[in-house]
Amino acid sequence: MSTETPAWMADIDSAALTALGAIEAAATLATLREAEVGALGRKGNVTALMKRIGKLDKSERKAFGAAAGGLRGKVTRAVSARREAIVQAAIAAELADTTFDETLPGLDGAPGHVHPLSRVQQELEDVFISMGFSVLDYPEVESEFDNFEALNIPGWHPARDMQDTFWLEGGHLLRTHTSAGQVRAMHQFKPPFRAVFPGKVYRYESTDASHDHTFHQLEGLMIGRHVSVGHLLDSMRTLLSAIFKRDVQVRLRPGYFPFVEPGFELDISCQVCDQKGCSVCKQSGWVELLPCGLVHPNVLRAGGLDPDEWQGWAFGLGLSRLVMMRYGVNDIRLLMGGDARFVEGFHPGT
Ligand code: PHE
Repeated sequence: MSTETPAWMADIDSAALTALGAIEAAATLATLREAEVGALGRKGNVTALMKRIGKLDKSERKAFGAAAGGLRGKVTRAVSARREAIVQAAIAAELADTTFDETLPGLDGAPGHVHPLSRVQQELEDVFISMGFSVLDYPEVESEFDNFEALNIPGWHPARDMQDTFWLEGGHLLRTHTSAGQVRAMHQFKPPFRAVFPGKVYRYESTDASHDHTFHQLEGLMIGRHVSVGHLLDSMRTLLSAIFKRDVQVRLRPGYFPFVEPGFELDISCQVCDQKGCSVCKQSGWVELLPCGLVHPNVLRAGGLDPDEWQGWAFGLGLSRLVMMRYGVNDIRLLMGGDARFVEGFHPGT
Protein backbone atom coordinates (compact mmCIF):
# COMPACT_ATOMS: atom_id res chain seq x y z
CA MET A 1 0.00 0.00 0.00
CA SER A 2 1.33 3.38 -0.95
CA THR A 3 1.86 5.92 1.82
CA GLU A 4 1.80 8.76 -0.67
CA THR A 5 -1.05 11.22 -0.41
CA PRO A 6 -3.42 10.35 -3.23
CA ALA A 7 -4.12 13.01 -5.88
CA TRP A 8 -7.82 13.18 -5.11
CA MET A 9 -7.18 14.29 -1.52
CA ALA A 10 -6.88 17.85 -2.76
CA ASP A 11 -10.43 17.66 -4.14
CA ILE A 12 -11.75 16.47 -0.79
CA ASP A 13 -9.91 19.23 1.02
CA SER A 14 -11.15 21.94 -1.29
CA ALA A 15 -14.76 20.69 -1.12
CA ALA A 16 -14.48 20.67 2.70
CA LEU A 17 -13.12 24.19 2.71
CA THR A 18 -15.95 25.53 0.55
CA ALA A 19 -18.77 23.67 2.33
CA LEU A 20 -17.66 24.18 5.94
CA GLY A 21 -16.69 27.78 5.21
CA ALA A 22 -20.16 28.60 3.84
CA ILE A 23 -21.82 26.93 6.81
CA GLU A 24 -19.72 28.81 9.35
CA ALA A 25 -20.37 32.08 7.54
CA ALA A 26 -24.16 31.62 7.51
CA ALA A 27 -25.80 34.12 9.87
CA THR A 28 -29.43 33.32 9.15
CA LEU A 29 -31.41 30.13 8.69
CA ALA A 30 -31.96 31.05 5.04
CA THR A 31 -28.25 31.42 4.20
CA LEU A 32 -27.52 28.26 6.17
CA ARG A 33 -30.03 26.44 4.03
CA GLU A 34 -28.27 27.75 0.91
CA ALA A 35 -24.92 26.50 2.20
CA GLU A 36 -26.46 23.12 3.01
CA VAL A 37 -27.92 22.77 -0.48
CA GLY A 38 -24.61 23.91 -1.99
CA ALA A 39 -22.86 20.98 -0.29
CA LEU A 40 -25.40 18.20 0.10
CA GLY A 41 -28.08 19.09 -2.48
CA ARG A 42 -28.56 17.31 -5.76
CA LYS A 43 -25.89 19.47 -7.38
CA GLY A 44 -23.84 20.06 -4.23
CA ASN A 45 -20.06 19.76 -4.20
CA VAL A 46 -20.01 17.00 -1.57
CA THR A 47 -22.68 15.14 -3.52
CA ALA A 48 -20.46 15.45 -6.62
CA LEU A 49 -17.66 13.69 -4.73
CA MET A 50 -19.99 10.91 -3.67
CA LYS A 51 -21.02 10.40 -7.28
CA ARG A 52 -17.40 9.91 -8.24
CA ILE A 53 -16.98 6.83 -6.06
CA GLY A 54 -18.60 4.47 -8.54
CA LYS A 55 -16.39 5.61 -11.39
CA LEU A 56 -13.09 5.05 -9.59
CA ASP A 57 -10.66 2.26 -9.95
CA LYS A 58 -11.19 -0.52 -7.41
CA SER A 59 -7.84 0.16 -5.71
CA GLU A 60 -8.84 3.76 -4.93
CA ARG A 61 -12.53 3.28 -4.28
CA LYS A 62 -12.36 2.26 -0.62
CA ALA A 63 -10.10 5.07 0.58
CA PHE A 64 -11.87 7.71 -1.47
CA GLY A 65 -15.30 6.48 -0.35
CA ALA A 66 -14.26 6.68 3.29
CA ALA A 67 -12.90 10.21 2.84
CA ALA A 68 -15.96 11.50 0.92
CA GLY A 69 -18.41 9.78 3.32
CA GLY A 70 -16.50 11.21 6.27
CA LEU A 71 -16.79 14.69 4.80
CA ARG A 72 -20.51 14.27 4.24
CA GLY A 73 -20.98 13.33 7.93
CA LYS A 74 -18.91 16.29 9.02
CA VAL A 75 -20.90 18.70 6.86
CA THR A 76 -24.21 17.32 8.15
CA ARG A 77 -23.12 17.79 11.78
CA ALA A 78 -21.80 21.27 11.02
CA VAL A 79 -25.20 22.27 9.57
CA SER A 80 -27.02 21.07 12.72
CA ALA A 81 -24.59 22.82 15.03
CA ARG A 82 -24.82 26.05 13.07
CA ARG A 83 -28.63 25.91 13.01
CA GLU A 84 -28.75 25.49 16.78
CA ALA A 85 -26.32 28.40 17.20
CA ILE A 86 -28.42 30.70 14.98
CA VAL A 87 -31.62 29.86 16.88
CA GLN A 88 -29.97 30.36 20.27
CA ALA A 89 -28.54 33.71 19.13
CA ALA A 90 -32.00 34.86 18.03
CA ILE A 91 -33.50 33.92 21.39
CA ALA A 92 -30.72 35.67 23.26
CA ALA A 93 -31.21 38.80 21.15
CA GLU A 94 -34.92 38.81 21.90
CA LEU A 95 -34.35 38.40 25.62
CA ALA A 96 -31.78 41.19 25.57
CA ASP A 97 -34.30 43.55 23.97
CA THR A 98 -35.05 45.85 26.90
CA THR A 99 -38.02 47.53 25.19
CA PHE A 100 -40.11 44.53 26.34
CA ASP A 101 -41.28 45.10 29.90
CA GLU A 102 -42.66 41.96 31.41
CA THR A 103 -43.74 43.81 34.55
CA LEU A 104 -46.44 45.81 32.71
CA PRO A 105 -50.00 44.84 33.69
CA GLY A 106 -51.82 42.59 31.15
CA LEU A 107 -54.81 43.56 29.06
CA ASP A 108 -58.09 43.48 30.92
CA GLY A 109 -59.84 40.16 30.18
CA ALA A 110 -63.60 40.32 29.81
CA PRO A 111 -65.17 38.13 32.51
CA GLY A 112 -67.20 35.39 30.83
CA HIS A 113 -70.59 34.14 31.85
CA VAL A 114 -72.95 31.31 31.07
CA HIS A 115 -74.81 31.29 27.74
CA PRO A 116 -78.57 31.82 28.18
CA LEU A 117 -79.23 28.38 26.69
CA SER A 118 -77.03 26.68 29.27
CA ARG A 119 -78.57 28.75 32.01
CA VAL A 120 -82.14 27.81 31.18
CA GLN A 121 -81.09 24.20 30.66
CA GLN A 122 -79.47 24.07 34.09
CA GLU A 123 -82.52 25.66 35.65
CA LEU A 124 -84.81 23.06 34.06
CA GLU A 125 -82.51 20.26 35.15
CA ASP A 126 -82.83 21.49 38.73
CA VAL A 127 -86.63 21.53 38.46
CA PHE A 128 -86.67 17.97 37.12
CA ILE A 129 -84.14 16.67 39.61
CA SER A 130 -86.35 18.05 42.39
CA MET A 131 -89.23 16.02 40.90
CA GLY A 132 -87.22 12.79 40.97
CA PHE A 133 -86.01 12.73 37.35
CA SER A 134 -82.54 11.64 36.24
CA VAL A 135 -80.69 13.86 33.78
CA LEU A 136 -79.19 11.84 30.93
CA ASP A 137 -76.78 12.64 28.14
CA TYR A 138 -77.12 10.82 24.82
CA PRO A 139 -75.03 11.07 21.64
CA GLU A 140 -75.59 13.67 18.93
CA VAL A 141 -74.37 11.22 16.30
CA GLU A 142 -77.10 8.61 16.25
CA SER A 143 -78.09 5.45 14.44
CA GLU A 144 -80.99 5.49 12.04
CA PHE A 145 -82.58 2.91 14.32
CA ASP A 146 -82.63 5.06 17.46
CA ASN A 147 -83.55 8.28 15.68
CA PHE A 148 -86.29 6.84 13.47
CA GLU A 149 -87.05 3.13 13.33
CA ALA A 150 -87.31 2.50 17.06
CA LEU A 151 -89.67 5.48 17.20
CA ASN A 152 -92.13 3.87 14.84
CA ILE A 153 -90.83 5.81 11.83
CA PRO A 154 -89.71 3.24 9.23
CA GLY A 155 -87.87 4.29 6.06
CA TRP A 156 -91.01 4.61 3.96
CA HIS A 157 -92.88 6.68 6.52
CA PRO A 158 -93.90 10.16 5.36
CA ALA A 159 -93.05 11.51 8.81
CA ARG A 160 -89.38 11.23 7.81
CA ASP A 161 -89.95 14.26 5.60
CA MET A 162 -90.85 16.35 8.65
CA GLN A 163 -87.30 15.97 9.93
CA ASP A 164 -84.81 16.14 7.11
CA THR A 165 -81.47 14.91 8.31
CA PHE A 166 -77.73 15.39 7.99
CA TRP A 167 -76.57 11.91 7.00
CA LEU A 168 -73.10 10.74 7.94
CA GLU A 169 -71.05 7.81 6.74
CA GLY A 170 -72.05 4.28 7.69
CA GLY A 171 -75.78 5.02 7.98
CA HIS A 172 -75.29 7.33 10.94
CA LEU A 173 -76.91 10.73 11.22
CA LEU A 174 -77.00 13.84 13.39
CA ARG A 175 -80.01 13.30 15.65
CA THR A 176 -83.02 15.32 14.56
CA HIS A 177 -84.61 15.22 18.01
CA THR A 178 -83.79 14.23 21.56
CA SER A 179 -86.49 11.54 21.25
CA ALA A 180 -83.62 9.45 19.80
CA GLY A 181 -82.71 8.75 23.44
CA GLN A 182 -86.09 7.24 24.38
CA VAL A 183 -85.35 3.64 23.43
CA ARG A 184 -81.78 3.95 24.68
CA ALA A 185 -83.20 4.95 28.09
CA MET A 186 -85.64 2.02 28.07
CA HIS A 187 -82.74 -0.35 27.51
CA GLN A 188 -80.61 1.38 30.10
CA PHE A 189 -83.04 1.56 33.04
CA LYS A 190 -85.39 -0.86 34.66
CA PRO A 191 -88.93 0.55 34.77
CA PRO A 192 -90.47 2.41 36.41
CA PHE A 193 -88.19 5.37 35.75
CA ARG A 194 -88.33 9.01 34.80
CA ALA A 195 -85.67 10.98 33.04
CA VAL A 196 -84.94 14.08 31.02
CA PHE A 197 -82.30 14.31 28.32
CA PRO A 198 -81.41 17.75 27.06
CA GLY A 199 -79.18 18.51 24.11
CA LYS A 200 -78.42 19.80 20.67
CA VAL A 201 -80.38 18.53 17.68
CA TYR A 202 -79.92 19.10 13.95
CA ARG A 203 -82.20 19.49 10.97
CA TYR A 204 -81.35 19.90 7.35
CA GLU A 205 -83.58 22.84 6.58
CA SER A 206 -83.51 26.43 5.50
CA THR A 207 -83.40 28.93 8.34
CA ASP A 208 -85.55 31.85 9.35
CA ALA A 209 -86.36 33.75 12.54
CA SER A 210 -87.93 30.67 14.14
CA HIS A 211 -85.93 27.83 12.51
CA ASP A 212 -82.26 26.99 12.71
CA HIS A 213 -80.35 23.92 11.52
CA THR A 214 -79.01 23.46 15.06
CA PHE A 215 -81.13 23.98 18.13
CA HIS A 216 -81.77 22.62 21.61
CA GLN A 217 -84.45 20.39 23.03
CA LEU A 218 -85.13 18.74 26.33
CA GLU A 219 -86.79 15.36 26.21
CA GLY A 220 -88.84 14.04 29.09
CA LEU A 221 -89.73 10.40 29.50
CA MET A 222 -91.61 8.64 32.22
CA ILE A 223 -92.29 4.92 32.19
CA GLY A 224 -94.60 3.35 34.72
CA ARG A 225 -97.74 1.32 35.24
CA HIS A 226 -101.23 2.61 34.37
CA VAL A 227 -99.92 5.86 32.91
CA SER A 228 -102.74 7.83 31.28
CA VAL A 229 -103.42 11.11 29.51
CA GLY A 230 -104.52 12.45 32.88
CA HIS A 231 -101.04 11.87 34.27
CA LEU A 232 -99.52 13.46 31.21
CA LEU A 233 -101.57 16.64 31.47
CA ASP A 234 -101.06 17.01 35.18
CA SER A 235 -97.30 16.53 34.80
CA MET A 236 -97.11 19.09 31.98
CA ARG A 237 -99.04 21.64 34.04
CA THR A 238 -96.74 21.17 37.04
CA LEU A 239 -93.77 21.47 34.80
CA LEU A 240 -94.87 24.69 33.13
CA SER A 241 -95.69 26.42 36.38
CA ALA A 242 -92.26 25.43 37.70
CA ILE A 243 -90.59 26.76 34.58
CA PHE A 244 -92.38 30.07 34.20
CA LYS A 245 -93.02 30.83 37.85
CA ARG A 246 -96.03 32.78 36.67
CA ASP A 247 -99.22 32.28 34.72
CA VAL A 248 -98.84 31.67 31.04
CA GLN A 249 -101.74 30.76 28.86
CA VAL A 250 -101.53 27.32 27.32
CA ARG A 251 -103.59 25.58 24.71
CA LEU A 252 -103.66 21.94 23.77
CA ARG A 253 -104.16 20.69 20.23
CA PRO A 254 -104.03 17.20 18.84
CA GLY A 255 -100.58 16.63 17.33
CA TYR A 256 -99.25 13.82 15.20
CA PHE A 257 -95.99 12.10 16.05
CA PRO A 258 -95.60 8.43 15.11
CA PHE A 259 -94.03 7.61 18.48
CA VAL A 260 -96.89 8.79 20.68
CA GLU A 261 -100.56 7.86 20.77
CA PRO A 262 -102.46 10.01 21.46
CA GLY A 263 -100.19 12.95 20.67
CA PHE A 264 -100.59 16.61 21.52
CA GLU A 265 -99.15 20.01 20.75
CA LEU A 266 -98.98 22.20 23.78
CA ASP A 267 -98.70 25.88 22.84
CA ILE A 268 -98.03 28.81 25.13
CA SER A 269 -99.02 32.41 24.64
CA CYS A 270 -96.21 34.30 22.91
CA GLN A 271 -94.08 36.00 25.54
CA VAL A 272 -92.14 38.02 22.98
CA CYS A 273 -95.07 40.13 21.77
CA ASP A 274 -97.68 39.41 24.46
CA GLN A 275 -99.89 37.92 21.78
CA LYS A 276 -99.88 41.06 19.66
CA GLY A 277 -98.28 39.13 16.79
CA CYS A 278 -94.58 38.95 15.85
CA SER A 279 -92.18 36.98 13.65
CA VAL A 280 -91.57 34.40 16.38
CA CYS A 281 -95.24 33.43 16.74
CA LYS A 282 -95.82 34.07 13.04
CA GLN A 283 -98.44 36.68 14.00
CA SER A 284 -100.60 34.04 15.70
CA GLY A 285 -99.94 34.95 19.34
CA TRP A 286 -99.12 31.29 20.13
CA VAL A 287 -95.84 29.40 20.11
CA GLU A 288 -95.45 25.63 19.93
CA LEU A 289 -93.43 24.72 22.96
CA LEU A 290 -94.21 21.27 24.16
CA PRO A 291 -95.20 18.42 21.87
CA CYS A 292 -96.11 15.44 24.00
CA GLY A 293 -98.12 12.25 24.22
CA LEU A 294 -98.35 8.72 25.51
CA VAL A 295 -95.52 6.48 24.37
CA HIS A 296 -96.64 4.36 21.41
CA PRO A 297 -96.78 0.58 22.12
CA ASN A 298 -94.36 -0.07 19.22
CA VAL A 299 -91.79 2.17 20.88
CA LEU A 300 -92.19 0.35 24.18
CA ARG A 301 -91.66 -2.91 22.33
CA ALA A 302 -88.54 -1.54 20.63
CA GLY A 303 -87.32 -0.71 24.13
CA GLY A 304 -87.92 -4.28 25.26
CA LEU A 305 -91.01 -3.47 27.33
CA ASP A 306 -94.40 -5.18 27.26
CA PRO A 307 -97.05 -2.50 26.48
CA ASP A 308 -99.65 -4.43 28.50
CA GLU A 309 -97.49 -4.07 31.56
CA TRP A 310 -95.79 -0.71 31.02
CA GLN A 311 -96.91 2.63 29.64
CA GLY A 312 -95.40 6.05 29.58
CA TRP A 313 -95.54 9.63 28.53
CA ALA A 314 -92.98 11.67 26.67
CA PHE A 315 -92.50 15.28 25.75
CA GLY A 316 -89.98 17.15 23.64
CA LEU A 317 -89.55 20.65 25.00
CA GLY A 318 -88.18 23.25 22.60
CA LEU A 319 -85.38 24.60 24.75
CA SER A 320 -84.30 27.20 22.19
CA ARG A 321 -87.88 28.44 21.93
CA LEU A 322 -88.15 28.63 25.67
CA VAL A 323 -85.01 30.77 25.90
CA MET A 324 -86.43 33.06 23.23
CA MET A 325 -89.69 33.37 25.14
CA ARG A 326 -87.94 33.98 28.42
CA TYR A 327 -85.64 36.74 27.13
CA GLY A 328 -87.67 38.11 24.25
CA VAL A 329 -85.15 37.04 21.59
CA ASN A 330 -86.80 37.52 18.21
CA ASP A 331 -84.47 35.45 16.03
CA ILE A 332 -83.43 31.88 16.89
CA ARG A 333 -80.28 32.23 14.76
CA LEU A 334 -78.82 34.60 17.35
CA LEU A 335 -78.60 31.78 19.91
CA MET A 336 -75.99 29.71 18.08
CA GLY A 337 -74.66 32.50 15.88
CA GLY A 338 -71.35 32.67 17.72
CA ASP A 339 -71.51 36.45 18.17
CA ALA A 340 -70.10 37.30 21.60
CA ARG A 341 -71.98 40.62 21.63
CA PHE A 342 -75.25 38.68 21.80
CA VAL A 343 -74.17 36.62 24.82
CA GLU A 344 -72.76 39.74 26.46
CA GLY A 345 -76.33 41.03 26.70
CA PHE A 346 -77.22 38.30 29.20
CA HIS A 347 -75.34 39.15 32.32
CA PRO A 348 -76.10 37.10 35.41
CA GLY A 349 -78.99 38.53 37.28
CA THR A 350 -80.99 39.52 34.21
N1 PHE B 1 -89.40 14.64 18.96
C1 PHE B 1 -90.49 15.47 18.52
C2 PHE B 1 -89.94 16.61 17.65
O1 PHE B 1 -88.81 16.96 17.77
C3 PHE B 1 -91.23 16.06 19.70
C4 PHE B 1 -91.90 15.08 20.60
C5 PHE B 1 -91.24 14.48 21.66
C6 PHE B 1 -93.25 14.78 20.40
C7 PHE B 1 -91.88 13.62 22.50
C8 PHE B 1 -93.90 13.92 21.26
C9 PHE B 1 -93.21 13.34 22.29
O2 PHE B 1 -90.64 17.16 16.84
